[in-house]
Amino acid sequence: MITGSATGLPTNEAEVIAYLKRHGEKDMLRFLTAGSVDDGKSTLIGRLLYDSKMIYEDQLAAVIEDSTVHGTTDTDFDPALLTDGLKAEREQGITIDVAYRYFSTDKRNFIIADTPGHEQYTRNMATGASTCDLAVILIDARHGILEQTRRHSFIASLLGIRHLAVCVNKMDLVDYSQEVFERICLDYEGFAAKLEDVDMHFIPISALRGDNVVDQSENMPWFQGGSLLYYLERVPVSTDRNLIDMRFPVQYVLRPDLNYRGYCGTVASGILRKGNDVTILPSERTSRVASITTFSGEVEEAFPPMAVTVTLEDEVDVSRGDMIVHPNNQPHVAQDFEAVVVWMNDEPLKLNGSYLVKSTTNLVPATVTDLKYRFDINSLHRVDAETLHANEIGRVSLSTHRQICFDAYSRNRSTGCLIIVDRNTNATVGAGMILDREAAATSHVDAAAEPKSTHIRREVSGVSADDRVALLKQKPATLWLTGLSGSGKSTIARDLEQALHERGQACFILDGDNIRHGLNRDLGFSAADRTENIRRVSEVAALLNDAGLIVITSFISPYREDRAKAREIIGPDRFVEIHVDTPIEVCETRDPKGLYKKARAGEIAQFTGIDAPYDPPETPELTLKTAETPVDQSTTQIIAYLEEKSILAD
Ligand code: ADX
Repeated sequence: MITGSATGLPTNEAEVIAYLKRHGEKDMLRFLTAGSVDDGKSTLIGRLLYDSKMIYEDQLAAVIEDSTVHGTTDTDFDPALLTDGLKAEREQGITIDVAYRYFSTDKRNFIIADTPGHEQYTRNMATGASTCDLAVILIDARHGILEQTRRHSFIASLLGIRHLAVCVNKMDLVDYSQEVFERICLDYEGFAAKLEDVDMHFIPISALRGDNVVDQSENMPWFQGGSLLYYLERVPVSTDRNLIDMRFPVQYVLRPDLNYRGYCGTVASGILRKGNDVTILPSERTSRVASITTFSGEVEEAFPPMAVTVTLEDEVDVSRGDMIVHPNNQPHVAQDFEAVVVWMNDEPLKLNGSYLVKSTTNLVPATVTDLKYRFDINSLHRVDAETLHANEIGRVSLSTHRQICFDAYSRNRSTGCLIIVDRNTNATVGAGMILDREAAATSHVDAAAEPKSTHIRREVSGVSADDRVALLKQKPATLWLTGLSGSGKSTIARDLEQALHERGQACFILDGDNIRHGLNRDLGFSAADRTENIRRVSEVAALLNDAGLIVITSFISPYREDRAKAREIIGPDRFVEIHVDTPIEVCETRDPKGLYKKARAGEIAQFTGIDAPYDPPETPELTLKTAETPVDQSTTQIIAYLEEKSILAD
């Protein structure tokens, strides 16, 4: 009986309805296949689909014809051709990295997370595995356990897959030898004893000839453990869905008119109900769920992986990347945390280099600030390492540029996994599982967050801002100099301060090196620390502006987002962004503090322009080209601007 298609896509509506009705109530097993390139993955999937009759007859006819023409085997049917023949459909699959194939038997529905492509096998596997219950590990009976086998098994266990179906394949090529099978099992058990919490089941098979794939093999009477399909149909997989911790990462905000604000996204875990009290993170504002809508109408509750639009009772500020949760069950909100990372790029991991981290619906700039150790794949021992090369796995510290909401991977696979992306090529270069340690140890205050204290209220001064303007004969402003180290910020700041002072203006410089000796002595140069540096300086500048002073700041302030926040804190009418735009080659030649030289020699890490990024301003109020203009001319340029804007009287 033909019960579905190999691609899981019934071709007309009636078929879809019938298919869903037939199979909808059955329990679901998601699995992936892993092994070395030639271990027979395509053949096995083809055989599973073929022997369990999950293919349409026309597809089948085409494959049989192909096998006779191109067949690489002496059998009349090459199952690999079937799998490869589905490539076109696969390429239009749900994601780029992983395609999902559905089939079902009377007992269960199955989803195979297929990981096409040989070159980037590990990478594809890591991407597919985070939603799987089980991994089929394929081992070529002639070769036994290879490094790749160990690597994939380890990744599967890291990714929280608790069931491994270890298939010793190509048994036909070792004369169906029980001894060969048992030796491989022993070998694998020795290695897998070190894997956390996995349950293993060994099966000798020949995917090509169909032994023990769907039907019990007559060639191996010594094995009575049942076929692979028999195992897949019966292995108990408690549902992996986390239905306890409600997490709703906001994918985008729907705002068709002023009266409606809907928050769209996919429920990552837990159950969200209409009427629930909710907290929005990271702002910690609270509200209540007013409605939940799906594609086919309003619902009372939503659970993973439902895609829904939520409205709230209050007009709270929610944006993409925020997370809606229950007030008494919250994830971590932090910028610094640790993760086990599978590196996937040919270019090794750059310690202190700048990447993007994708976690739920957030994409944030991040730095890998530390590599604690790498795993030796053969022994699973931890070894010291300077970097991670392609396919290597290690434990790292990450520092994201702003706070993100997450859980430990062991608790929540959807909010605990992350992807590391190259900033320039946009390629996925790593996949990570966030670890369970005091994640938020060094997290800083969010500039936009409400104060922690309650019962506080602002005092109002009897001296008004206008009184101060009249006294000091100037409007307060913050002249925010941003640029690379050595670009000339401090030199210009000093010259400008002098010139303003001589004109009788009250002004004051806030300088990076100085502030880092006092107020900000606890901060280093990670992305998070720089963000905090700029936040605190902005608050100080705002206070000095309130006092009526003109403030000149001299900070690299490399992140555009931080400068935007500074503008917000200080007030857009008082904030003047001045880009000290000096090419890095010029800064490096000047090297007033000898820091570029040290950074090049690897003595200073995360040095802006060398191994830490600088986002140039897009629309600064002023740009100073110090490579072409002398200092006094820059000062004149700034003063002219201040006069033009009536900050100074001319
Ligand atoms: S910012 O990036 O957070 O804005 P800030 O302007 O306070 O930096 O401090 C930069 C100064 O610290 C530089 O002028 C330089 O003297 C010193 N410094 C030391 N280490 C670094 C580093 N890794 N990157 C940049 N500057 C550094």
